Amino acid sequence: MTRIAVLPGDGIGPEVIAEGLKVLRAALGPEASRWEFVEAPIGWAAIDQCGSALPEQTLAICKGSDAMFFGAVGLPARDATLPPAQRPETAALLGLRKGLFANLRPAILYPEFADLSVLRADIVANGVDVLIVRELTGGLYYGQPKGRTAADGGERAVDTMVYTTGEIERIARVAFEAARTRRHKLCSVDKANILATSQLWREVVTRLGRDYPDVALSHMYVDSCAMQLLRNPGDFDVIVTENTFGDILSDEASMLVGSLGMLPSACLGDGSLPAFYEPIHGTAPDIAGQGKANPLAAILTAAMLLRYSFHREREATAIEEAVKGVLRSGARTGDILQPGGRLVETGEMGDLVARAVEDWYVRNDRTL
Ligand code: IPM
Ligand code: MG
Repeated sequence: MTRIAVLPGDGIGPEVIAEGLKVLRAALGPEASRWEFVEAPIGWAAIDQCGSALPEQTLAICKGSDAMFFGAVGLPARDATLPPAQRPETAALLGLRKGLFANLRPAILYPEFADLSVLRADIVANGVDVLIVRELTGGLYYGQPKGRTAADGGERAVDTMVYTTGEIERIARVAFEAARTRRHKLCSVDKANILATSQLWREVVTRLGRDYPDVALSHMYVDSCAMQLLRNPGDFDVIVTENTFGDILSDEASMLVGSLGMLPSACLGDGSLPAFYEPIHGTAPDIAGQGKANPLAAILTAAMLLRYSFHREREATAIEEAVKGVLRSGARTGDILQPGGRLVETGEMGDLVARAVEDWYVRNDRTL
């Protein structure tokens, strides 16, 4: 039995995860009966039920799973009522990501959907296919010391950006290996003109690059990268960068593709822990429960889960092709609606993709 921990969370989390599961089941077909999907509360859903954002039972389910499928947590209006360490984003999300140092965030815009991009048609005419490899367990997010103290009649706040050679090497290796399976280009993004962590980063990545003579390695400052992503997005293949830079650049990359609601992600470790799969978007409480959320990020996240945790390339492709087919048909959630598009609700989008997956298998034998 394959066991998936299902963690819908808050806001639009439950509605997009429901569609992701619908499509995941369709991709598995009859085999879905041998997969166990164990749902567990997390975030505010868990605080309200059990008193903490990541309850012991939820953690136990996650540890006993083969992979985790996560929606989103945190409700800004309520988060502020808790001390920072107990808030869902810190206690639940950062807790579960521990050990999963490689965050893969692909942003793909096929030329035929160039109108989805917020960029001018001529800039994305050849499409975009960039994989952001974000370091996920170091840098400012986890570095110590961190916190606030009284100082000079006010307060003093500190976050620590810290990286070791080993941490940089292991994420760079993931990125070089990924580049090898793609267009053999790797851009390492840092702020080496100012930051000591970035100077070490650049040295380590450069040194490692000698092991990958077939990969064209370049380096870019993060501010320049933010600009180049808008100026010439088609130029990028794989980007590797530290935690905070990756957080920011991946939100930017989502606009190349049209919406935050389109970008999936996978958080992978060294294989000793179950991997964690999440759409890159948040809880969007303003549209929660109204059928307005775009479930495609969660659906594409399900494809990543099949590919990276279970090597089910065929099923992953079925989902990705189905999403393409549905977009081609003109169906759009509000965030990617264009003149001439047909507005559909969250559940209908999921139904359409699930049906398109079935159709894909009619054309491409399921038993192969
Ligand atoms: C993301 C999010 C998270 C992050 C937040 C919710 C803590 O922005 O996954 O990109 O900063 O990693
Ligand atoms: Mg983010």
